[in-house]
Amino acid sequence: MKFKEVLGIDIGGSGIKGAPVNTKNGKLLDERHRIQTPQPSSPENVAKTINELVKHFKWKGAIGCGFPAVVQNGLVYSAANVDKSWINTNAQKLFSKATGLPVWVLNDADAAGLAEAKLGAGAGFKGAMIVFVVGTGIGAALFTDGRLYPNLEVGHLDMRGQDQDWESYASDATRKREKLDMEAWGKRLYEYFSYIEFLFSPELIIIGGGASKKMDKFKEFLDLKAKVLPAHFLNEAGIIGAAMAARVNLKDG
Ligand code: BGC
Repeated sequence: MKFKEVLGIDIGGSGIKGAPVNTKNGKLLDERHRIQTPQPSSPENVAKTINELVKHFKWKGAIGCGFPAVVQNGLVYSAANVDKSWINTNAQKLFSKATGLPVWVLNDADAAGLAEAKLGAGAGFKGAMIVFVVGTGIGAALFTDGRLYPNLEVGHLDMRGQDQDWESYASDATRKREKLDMEAWGKRLYEYFSYIEFLFSPELIIIGGGASKKMDKFKEFLDLKAKVLPAHFLNEAGIIGAAMAARVNLKDG
């Protein structure tokens, strides 16, 4: 089977988005379709939603899925913004069974990062780079020489001296919940990225997720040493990268 065209799916805390992707050039082959994340976001309910997306696109090929948690070999090991019953669930097996199709599952930020590193704002960049996904949560993908170090859970680092993680302080969901204006949010993101710079010294920071579309409104507050760019594929990077990862890992022709 040829997996050049893969159904890319980005599972998030509030929406599950998908589109068929040409994995060689990152182009969407059809309009993106979004379904609200079911509540509770249990494995059974999410698997049903994945199947709805498959039916929507009448899809018969391979599927790549970004999932908002630590994922190793298809197994989910954390659950910050999804139902806790996901922990220790084999998402890959579950979705394959639900759809009858070959499925590859990886962390959502890693998926977005792969799209940006291979075809997007980080394409050809050889240095230390972190791609962030700022949406319901904060996820991150670390690259050097274009190679990914997966499952970097730096959104859950504790804020210095406080019993709170950075994700709950600076995510897009927090901006909405606390009704922060762009300046207040931009300053929180600046604090967070400054801490990231202190720890990892990336030369390039790429911002994806819901925040990517608003970057022109808060970029001025990010006075960082690293170069900061919005994701080339904006909020679609996760769909595209999930499809690309499926092509590589499910072994195409
Ligand atoms: C999760 C990460 C995920 C990020 C973005 C965090 O809460 O722990 O695995 O990448 O949200 O969705």
